[in-house]
Amino acid sequence: MTSEITLSVASSGADAIDADALVLGVYSSSEGASLAPSFLSAQTVEGLEAVLEDLGISGAADQVYRLPGVEDSAAKIVVLTGLGERSEDAATRANALRYGVGSAARQLAGCENIVVSVPTEDVDDVAAVAEGIAFGAFTDSQLKEKSAEKVKAPVSSAVIITDVETDAASSALERALILGEAVHHTRVLVNTPPSHLYPETFAQQAIERVKDLDDVSVRVFEPEELEAEGFGGIMGVGKGSSRGPRFVEVKYAPQDASTSVALVGKGITFDSGGLSIKPGAAMMTMKCDMAGAASVLNAVAAVAELGLPIGATAYLCLAENMPSGTATRPEDVLTMRGGTTVEVLNTDAEGRLVMADGLAYASEQNFDVILDVATLTGAQMIALGTRTSAVMGDDAIRQQIVDAAEAAGEDFWPMPLPAHLRPALDSQVADLKNIGSRFGGMLSAGIFLKEFVGSTDEGQIPWAHLDIASPAFNEESAFGFTPKEGTGQSVPTLVKFLETRAGN
Ligand code: BES
Ligand code: MN
Ligand code: ZN
Repeated sequence: MTSEITLSVASSGADAIDADALVLGVYSSSEGASLAPSFLSAQTVEGLEAVLEDLGISGAADQVYRLPGVEDSAAKIVVLTGLGERSEDAATRANALRYGVGSAARQLAGCENIVVSVPTEDVDDVAAVAEGIAFGAFTDSQLKEKSAEKVKAPVSSAVIITDVETDAASSALERALILGEAVHHTRVLVNTPPSHLYPETFAQQAIERVKDLDDVSVRVFEPEELEAEGFGGIMGVGKGSSRGPRFVEVKYAPQDASTSVALVGKGITFDSGGLSIKPGAAMMTMKCDMAGAASVLNAVAAVAELGLPIGATAYLCLAENMPSGTATRPEDVLTMRGGTTVEVLNTDAEGRLVMADGLAYASEQNFDVILDVATLTGAQMIALGTRTSAVMGDDAIRQQIVDAAEAAGEDFWPMPLPAHLRPALDSQVADLKNIGSRFGGMLSAGIFLKEFVGSTDEGQIPWAHLDIASPAFNEESAFGFTPKEGTGQSVPTLVKFLETRAGN
């Protein structure tokens, strides 16, 4: 499972630290690679720089090279990690540190202790380095019974060499550990196969995750309660499975909260498509279809651990989408929470059905902002590729998510909800149908969700929709601090968004 990591900072005595590896940065430029500033002497730096070109070290991101140790350091080996071209922009520099140091931490699995000496100009840089280490030092062998020992253990302790003032640096480390744990837990949930993770066990995991946290309460809605309370979307999607659906409320409500945010997460523990069944190959990654629910659970847990003065409630919309004699049929009409009727024309567009109930329920609870996070559409991957998530919704909230993502080192891109796509969701028989125009599929899904965001006297509740379909699950090679399979993407952005709203 996830591992505990120890992080610390030091401003002197770096040479004497007896670590397995000393991690240094390398910048790339048109004139060739150069070492980023570190505690090493000019002479040692000169010696290392003299061999960079011959070793094929360019300073490109994800290039991690191991060399013999140097005289200035008691560490056994030197590790050079690419930071790309040095930027004049502070946020870009911090993100390069997070990514580059994270890549080294990930690739150094098998080493116990590392020392990291890269340029940190301020506490944001220290935070980025610490987060890179925390996110990168991860392996998941939860179901390896006979081969677990073949998996190299992640780095277990790191000392960051910096001149940044120790108190500020220490709180950045503490935050990085909390964030790291939230990201790790999200990845492990996403990785857990549908044989092991289904609505009931996911609900148990949620209870377990927050059981020791102050000001956090959990309420699990069982199928009977969902039926009685009008959660027609979650019930309708869950109907085909032998494992009943659940709706879980994880509420962090500190005394000093002056504002509160709801986070609604898509928790389809397996998406077969239902009767509109997916081809085999398309089903292959569909254990990841609960990543939104895992992210919102962990964002709320992190915010509670940080003790932020803001209310934050996660709503997990949990169901397994399966075909069977009891499954919802194409052309069935469901009555959602709040009374809106939806004609289901494609049972594979199930995410929006469970999210509709979650959004409607959250809208009844007086939140100042509602966010939703979902692996909602294949169209997200077509539009933005595998690493960039989409954010739609109100202009202001959408921009706040983009800004939070930039500060957190994640890729979120603003997308529109064009009004002309709305009529395609009109149904002959019900209020709405669950599929719209063939083009702009990601946007149609967002427009569908918007129908379920409630209003107050001041108009519709401020809302944004995050489609993380592809970035939530890495089918390709590991990169930066990101492993294969579950990535934890969106957790750092959500936490940053909540911190900003809390005034931190
Ligand atoms: N869970 C999928 C979306 C998805 C696809 C997530 C690939 C991650 C990777 C979602 O439930 C789905 O099947 N969406 C359909 C919607 C369509 C039927 C309107 C899609 O995108 O094809
Ligand atoms: Mn689907
Ligand atoms: Zn789905």
